[in-house]
Amino acid sequence: MTKGWTKSDWRAKPRVQMPDYPEMTALNAVERQLAKYPPLVFAGEARTLKKQLALAAEGKAFVLQGGDCAESFAEFSADNIRDTFRVMLQMAVVLTYGAKVPVVKIGRMAGQFAKPRSAGTEVIGGVELPSYRGDIINGFDFTAADRIPDPARMLQAYTQSAASLNLLRAFSTGGFADIHRVHSWTLGFAEHDKAERYRELSNRIADALDFMTAAGVNSDSAHTLSTVDFYTSHEALLLEYEEALCRIDSLTGQPVAGSGHMIWIGDRTRQPDGAHVEFCRGVLNPIGLKCGPTTTAEDLKILMAKLNPQNEPGRLTLIARFGAGKVGDHLPRLIKAVQAEGANVLWSCDAMHGNTIKAASGYKTRPFESVLREVREFFAIHKAEGTIPGGVHFEMTGQDVTECTGGLRAVSDEGLSDRYHTACDPRLNASQSLELAFLVAEELTSRRVETRRIAL
Ligand code: PEP
Ligand code: CO
Repeated sequence: MTKGWTKSDWRAKPRVQMPDYPEMTALNAVERQLAKYPPLVFAGEARTLKKQLALAAEGKAFVLQGGDCAESFAEFSADNIRDTFRVMLQMAVVLTYGAKVPVVKIGRMAGQFAKPRSAGTEVIGGVELPSYRGDIINGFDFTAADRIPDPARMLQAYTQSAASLNLLRAFSTGGFADIHRVHSWTLGFAEHDKAERYRELSNRIADALDFMTAAGVNSDSAHTLSTVDFYTSHEALLLEYEEALCRIDSLTGQPVAGSGHMIWIGDRTRQPDGAHVEFCRGVLNPIGLKCGPTTTAEDLKILMAKLNPQNEPGRLTLIARFGAGKVGDHLPRLIKAVQAEGANVLWSCDAMHGNTIKAASGYKTRPFESVLREVREFFAIHKAEGTIPGGVHFEMTGQDVTECTGGLRAVSDEGLSDRYHTACDPRLNASQSLELAFLVAEELTSRRVETRRIAL
């Protein structure tokens, strides 16, 4: 992809948010070991995803990216993976019905372990220790020993990612993802006494499925109704890990990040001359770039040129994360920068990271209403600018946690402590995620009318 690029060039660039490992010999031994392991994904899959993202950029598909803020070793279980996968499939059916285009499903799963932090250290009761940076780097417990970066954690993260991906691949094709089965779970959700608003849409989907069955299009005859494509993604933060899993695509000779199908650059690591941009620019995978209130039009132009010099459709996803009430201050100027360059990008909306607040109880939370409001502002601005809102990005879980407030079952500030399990940022629970999908589907129904109008 990029002439003269090598997978270790990032080492010569300024790096932020990465750990200082105390023992280089231990680190190097882990890097050598990982470099011998099989990649988790294959280049052909990353290329297929890129094609699907190119369609989403044109409004011919829609992206649903979701999962944990931080995967953890402690919460690793088949049930957790199954439940998040299940709710994402349910959301995808609802979104497909609203958008009338395929929904590209991408988990923040099987590799989402490393976390950028706002402060390098954490102080509790007068004791200061290095911040927790995700299970792939150090431990969550507030002890000096746990907080020392340990390279052996990379091997455990690799193993957990491989096992997670194996299960996801099995679920995707082994019968679990059958659309009739997925929708029957959603019908159950819509029976909730406060869900009448969603019941009608859910019943219409059920009718559409019944009609297809009657017409002879069923899961036995149509492979697409019984299987799904599901992709993985994570923030490419820990570059020693990314470099060790970088491989050469035998078909094209290009480097590919073998750690996940899509990788993204976070809001804190997008310095145009920094290490993270340097690594990501050289691999063929689809790349996400978080865009926040401090992203300038000038930086965005440089980043687009660096990350997608050939202007390849599907290569670059701009993940907007401004916060409810702030989208109008920032998105239009960045859309104009994209248009000025004639750049091909997919616009997605991360409605989580600009909406984190501290509840009176002390818990970090996100109000459901703010998340929804940011999504609606994102759609409204794209409509006003004549551009395409191509996807959404959520921190969510299939578990019944109490981390974000609001929604149908109304998690309150006081209720946050009941089941607050996240290793990092607060996630939407299963019910909040599905409710949000119904509300985004309404936005997509009007996007469809708008896209048609533009096409005429
Ligand atoms: C994240 O996606 O978990 C994250 C840290 O986001 P951002 O870089 O946008 O703050
Ligand atoms: Co997060």
